[in-house]
Amino acid sequence: MKVLVAYYSRTNVTKKVGDEIAKSLNADVEEITTPTKYGGKLGYARAGRDAMGEKIIDLEDLKYNPSDYDLVYLGAPVWVGKAANPMISYIKQNEGKFNDVKFFATAGSQDFDKIFKQMQNYIGKSPQKTLGLTTKEVKKGEFKEKLQSFID
Ligand SMILES: Cc1cc2nc3c(=O)[nH]c(=O)nc-3n(C[C@H](O)[C@H](O)[C@H](O)COP(=O)(O)O)c2cc1C
Repeated sequence: MKVLVAYYSRTNVTKKVGDEIAKSLNADVEEITTPTKYGGKLGYARAGRDAMGEKIIDLEDLKYNPSDYDLVYLGAPVWVGKAANPMISYIKQNEGKFNDVKFFATAGSQDFDKIFKQMQNYIGKSPQKTLGLTTKEVKKGEFKEKLQSFID
């Protein structure tokens, strides 16, 4: 089975989870990057604004076509109670190209159901599984068990 792990990560928390999934499954990795700068204090404010408005933005060139994969893991940080808009933009840009999907997200502390519902609405299909992890769990490396049942 061909697997792709596609994620956006501003401060490498979601990236840590995505890279772990990819390593376990020997999957290809699409790290989504944007010409829009979301770093630093100004970037933080821009990120909040863009996420709130569910703004669709341009992405840097992508390496992989999701339709070449049986399963795509999609990962994003939570921004103001929404999936970070670079992920929403990625889903939009690849409309109709996804076979099976699983969603993962990281956040300071968050009810993840809303985020996954938002991603599901954009993609137009239900994920096989979802995984929400707090930033703290990820930074401390306390997510191996949850990750295992997510990728099984
Ligand atoms: C603009 C912005 C808004 C955020 N909003 C929320 C939020 O609503 N709820 C929450 O629990 N965490 C929120 N966070 C925290 C991030 O979701 C969290 O730090 C995440 O793990 C960062 O992942 P990353 O390193 O992959 O970007 C926000 C972070 C940013 C930059």
